[in-house]
Amino acid sequence: MSLPPTLFLAPLRGATDYIFRDTLQHHFQGWDCAISPFITPQNNSDFPDKTLKDVLPVNNPGLPLIPQLLTNTPEQFLILSRRLIELGYHHLNWNLGCPAPQVAKKGKGSGMLPCPDKIVALLDTVLPELEQLDCQLSIKMRLGYHAQEESFALLPQLNAFPLREITIHTRLGSQIYRGATDVESFTRCLELSSHRLIYNGDIISCADWHTLQKRFPQISCWMIGRGAIARPFLAEEIKGGECRDLSGRLCRFHAELLTRYSSAFSGDTHIIGRMKLIWNFLINSFPFAEKKLLKKVQKSRTLSQYQDAAESILQTSIPHSFSNIHEEQKKHLKTES
Ligand SMILES: Cc1cc2nc3c(=O)[nH]c(=O)nc-3n(C[C@H](O)[C@H](O)[C@H](O)COP(=O)(O)O)c2cc1C
Repeated sequence: MSLPPTLFLAPLRGATDYIFRDTLQHHFQGWDCAISPFITPQNNSDFPDKTLKDVLPVNNPGLPLIPQLLTNTPEQFLILSRRLIELGYHHLNWNLGCPAPQVAKKGKGSGMLPCPDKIVALLDTVLPELEQLDCQLSIKMRLGYHAQEESFALLPQLNAFPLREITIHTRLGSQIYRGATDVESFTRCLELSSHRLIYNGDIISCADWHTLQKRFPQISCWMIGRGAIARPFLAEEIKGGECRDLSGRLCRFHAELLTRYSSAFSGDTHIIGRMKLIWNFLINSFPFAEKKLLKKVQKSRTLSQYQDAAESILQTSIPHSFSNIHEEQKKHLKTES
């Protein structure tokens, strides 16, 4: 019998913070670990706890966490790495995927992919020290910034380094999040890399994962971002769980998120803003919910308006998992999509 897949929760800055990760872990099984949204180093080692709040071990008691760094200078990389290692981490992740223009223009994130020499130079400098400090490094990257050829040139060079693994989001940086993922180019990446590769991009349903798994039977690790917020039970579905009591669990999940964001953030606007962002994805767990219900959530201005609107989805709409819905409902879903 084949081993169950390893499922990583992807980093989504502004969404998969420590509160989301911990709450997800309380209510749904199957997520094996998470990468933190990126942290940008500063020029000295005196990181106030506020900067590192998201990755402080005390805030991450459950799901194993791999902190992610975003920088293009070895000095800053090492300053932040030392601090994270002091906190107890033995595995860090380097962001070579961020497509945000203000980041990429400065040659960071996916903006570094057209310059493989700089990537190699940074690894040459930082890896010996990380190794001495008993810390491993993995990379999360795109297929390139302008073109797939950038990863095809980089991956063979990365084979010389003792990286733990490489996650590839199968889009270009210049695509931001638009357009289709490029599964064909991932096949080429597999041929070019001797590292363990993790597939990332547009796994929104169990069916998406099955299609990819058939195509890449050699891949044992998968990273899921938006799909995890859209369907918090997706990891359970993929691992063949029965997804029982989805309605009750989604209600309790939502209630815990709201309570924790209400204590962490000050002001209704901030709290509601975060919950609206989550609902943009989470509504996919309720495919039969009327469209006007999401609009009501999006229009809410006060906490009590928000609670009313969210309750009307949670209490009146049936969540679904493909593993527990009837054939009739499946047909309905297909015609809807
Ligand atoms: C709002 C948002 C914030 C993101 N923040 C990060 C980040 O901090 N670090 C990172 O490596 N990727 C980040 N990503 C990219 C995701 O981790 C992931 O690679 C991408 O969404 C594709 O996977 P998915 O289709 O499973 O969501 C972000 C994506 C979104 C939409």
